[in-house]
Amino acid sequence: MIRKTQTINPLQIPVPQFHKLILGSVSPRPIAFASTIDKDGKPNLSPFSFFNAFGVNPSTLIFSPSRRGRDNTTKNTFENLKEVAEVVINMVTYDMVEQANLASSDYPKGINEFVKAGFTPIESEMVRPFRVNESPVQYECKVRDIIETGDQGGAANLVICEILLMHVDENVLDESGMIDPDKIDLVGRMGGPWYCRTTGDSKFKISKPGEKLGIGIDALPEQVRHSPVLTGNELAKLGGLQNLPESNEVDAMRSSNEVKKIFDESEDILTGIHSHAKQLIQKGEVYEAMKVLMTY
Ligand SMILES: Cc1cc2nc3c(=O)[nH]c(=O)nc-3n(C[C@H](O)[C@H](O)[C@H](O)COP(=O)(O)O)c2cc1C
Repeated sequence: MIRKTQTINPLQIPVPQFHKLILGSVSPRPIAFASTIDKDGKPNLSPFSFFNAFGVNPSTLIFSPSRRGRDNTTKNTFENLKEVAEVVINMVTYDMVEQANLASSDYPKGINEFVKAGFTPIESEMVRPFRVNESPVQYECKVRDIIETGDQGGAANLVICEILLMHVDENVLDESGMIDPDKIDLVGRMGGPWYCRTTGDSKFKISKPGEKLGIGIDALPEQVRHSPVLTGNELAKLGGLQNLPESNEVDAMRSSNEVKKIFDESEDILTGIHSHAKQLIQKGEVYEAMKVLMTY
């Protein structure tokens, strides 16, 4: 069934309204806690969730201290970067998010948000802005370019940063030296007042498609593709298999007790078979599930 949608042309609704729709739908967003200084060496610290990583060679982060929607003024961070093209991007964790939120207050230029929001500045090695001691990952960056996407309120100023140094707290690493998501406990910004954590049950694993290509959902038998029981996610797991089971494997499955029982006792055999396959998929036994499905 085709989804019933509202179709919105961003040029035909007020900018603040579209801004809110973007914030709620391009979500959750990581948060760059950007430390800058002005030409007189005065520090500034503000969070920005129009932010992401875009490459690793050279290592590139981009964030946007945008033009204010309400009066089209620019932010202190943007002005500082025009004076000193260096920034430390600190990642924001659950333990520090309220303080980061406080640092987002509209303090006038020259007011030091390290002091206002109670963060500890520590000297960087390759750039002049300070690092935030409370953050477990701090990127010292030089600004390669700033792209101003417009001159009206709400326009982005894309600050293209090259990472010169990364500092990472050893306590957030696992045995193989990689970031452990439960230990780092990052937060994401969503729409309105909403944030999310990235630990515990909020996260789940997906194995990367292997080098050998999966058969694809289009190669599944029609009764499977149009399953009344299986979801798109479950069909995708089946489509990731490298081959369909051979007919002798399917025959063996057809004579298994569980499948025989469904054929003998179910009023709706298709639903019974698909429900059994669904349980196997949920246990990670995807190939077995495919054999079950092909018994029908
Ligand atoms: C979590 C969070 C994310 C934010 N993301 C952005 C953003 O991506 N772009 C932006 O212009 N302002 C963003 N803001 C608002 C700025 O932090 C705020 O305008 C701040 O006062 C700018 O500080 P400055 O003038 O010292 O640079 C965000 C605020 C919070 C709390």
